[in-house]
Formats: sequence, structure tokens, C-alpha cells
Amino acid sequence: MFQILDKQDLAPSIKQFVIDAPLVAQKAQPGQFIILRIKEGGERIPLTIADYDAKQGTVTVVFQEVGKTTLELGTLKTGDYLADFVGPLGEGVKFKNHKKVLGIGGGLGVAPLYPKLKILHQQGAYVESIIGAKTADLLIMEQQIKAVSNKTHICTDDGTKGRHGFVTVVLKELLEQGEKYDEIIIIGPPILMKIAAEITKPYGIPTMVSLNPIMVDGTGMCGGCRVTVGGETKFACVDGPAFDGHKVDFDELMKRLQTYKTEETTALHKHKGGNCKCHQQ
Ligand code: FAD
Ligand code: FES
Ligand code: MG
Repeated sequence: MFQILDKQDLAPSIKQFVIDAPLVAQKAQPGQFIILRIKEGGERIPLTIADYDAKQGTVTVVFQEVGKTTLELGTLKTGDYLADFVGPLGEGVKFKNHKKVLGIGGGLGVAPLYPKLKILHQQGAYVESIIGAKTADLLIMEQQIKAVSNKTHICTDDGTKGRHGFVTVVLKELLEQGEKYDEIIIIGPPILMKIAAEITKPYGIPTMVSLNPIMVDGTGMCGGCRVTVGGETKFACVDGPAFDGHKVDFDELMKRLQTYKTEETTALHKHKGGNCKCHQQ
């Protein structure tokens, strides 16, 4: 059993847990994830390791309530226990002698972006970041991102904070102004990663994305998380989840993420006791 040592509401429907998980914390690297289950026989939920502290033995995860199981997860409180918290899973990312990097986080993507920028900052790289959300209330981890960045640009789709518009607007401007980076890291909804990777491609700047296909076992056994990268089939749970953004088939990823939409909607509807309109959507 894994205890929730601290719970914070970061935004409406976005929650942060600090979990007592010393063995995961000791091995964790930026880019890795865990799979948790609330209870025996429950659904497996992959979540990115948003932060970790090997000394304290803690792992931080940030999640958005999007369906039945994440809504259930959101009802747990400080002091409650999770049945399983397995990890670290996936390949950790390693950065070699980067002098200047740009990190872009859209929506919940800001959470997985943070540990990568943190390590780059610790390695002495000049870190520039662009973080964005639909609206000011949904912008998460602004202070943490600023603490590991030399310069941070804030964007909101509705203009309620920072620049009015998508993070890609600022990305385009920086590249057009002639800014150069050793690497650009983009994490967010697949459509954002697709568009942003298309923008960086003509500049020839290495571009890392982090993929979130549907995962089951998280150890390379089921094939559920397969993605196409550079024309080859990869399993995101063991070969990723970080990949070269210029090589990912994002259209296939987006299509595969819709595979269980009907079942997910039915489960959500039942969970809400039928008191919702989700079934008709
Ligand atoms: P459902 O109604 O079951 O599903 C809603 C949507 O979530 C689906 O349409 C699908 O797109 C996605 N989803 C559902 N089941 C899975 C699954 N088993 N694996 C992957 N995606 C699924 N979310 C966060 O909020 N924070 C994170 O840090 C985070 N990191 C992730 C890291 C990885 C490597 C992966 C693969 C996914 C990550 N996700 C993260 C997505 C998260 O796992 C899903 O939002 C969650 O499983 C949805 O569960 P649900 O039952 O509440 O929703
Ligand atoms: Fe099963 Fe990746 S989740 S192979
Ligand atoms: Mg589910």
C-alpha cells in the first residue's frame, strides 16, 4: 500500500499527490512514469513522475480528472492509500551538454515538462520555457517552472493571463527572431505536439515529445501502447514515452486514443449515476 502524504488542488479538476514510494523515488529519472491502481482489481492509470525526492522517498504526480478512474482518484485525501504504485517505468531522458533549451508545456503537459527542465537547469543549461493553458485558472506549476527557467513565457487561449493565444504563437516568434536551441521539448495534447513539431522541423532543431498512448501493462508485453516513429513500430512504455517529434505519426496516435471512447463514456456515465449528459455526447 502506498500512502498519499499530501494532496493539493492545482486547478479545477487538476490534482497533485505526493506519494510515499521510496523505491520508486530512488530510481526515478526525468521522463519516466508510474502505473497506479486505486484498489485491487481496479483500472491501471499511467501517470508521469512530475517530481521525486530520493532522500524523502516521495514521488509527485499531477493528474486531471478526465474519466471514471481519475475522478475516483480525485476523491482520495491526504492519508489515504493506493493499492499499487509501480515504477519507475519507461526510459529516462538524458541530456548531453545542452547549453540552451526551450521547453514547451501545454495544459497538463506542464507537469511532465518540469522534471526535464529541472535537470537541465541543474546541469547549468540556459532554460527558456513557454507554458500555456486554456484559461488562467487552468495554468499549473507556474512558480516551479519559473524556478528552473531563465526566462518564461505564459500564454492562455482566452487571454486571461500572459499572451493571448497558443504556446505555438510564441514558439514561432522566437524561431523567426533567430533564436537557436540545442533542443526543444514539447509536451501537451497530441495535436499541440504535432503542430509544434511541424514548426520546429524546418529549423532542424532536435525536438523531443512525450507520448501518452493507451497503456495496460507498461512493460512491453501487451502492445497496447504501440506508436509509429520513423516508420517503425515502437512501444511507448519501454521505448519511450519520449521520442523524436519529427518522426512520430501523430495522426495514428490520435486515432488510437479514441479506440475505447464508447466504453469510457459508458463507464463515466455509470460512475455519475446517470446524472450527466456524457452519454449523449
Ligand atoms: P477514461 O474515461 O478511461 O479515458 C479518458 C481518456 O484517457 C481516453 O480517451 C484516453 O485518451 C486516455 N486513457 C484512458 N485509459 C488510458 C490508459 N490506460 N493509458 C493511457 N491513456 C488512457 N494523465 C494525467 O492526468 N497526468 C499525467 O501525468 C499523465 N501521464 C501519462 C503518462 C503516460 C506515459 C500515459 C500513457 C498517460 C498519461 N496520462 C496522464 C493519461 C492518463 O493515464 C489518462 O488520463 C487516464 O488513464 C484516464 O483514465 P480515466 O479512467 O479517468 O479516463
Ligand atoms: Fe503494454 Fe506498452 S503498455 S506494451
Ligand atoms: Mg478509464
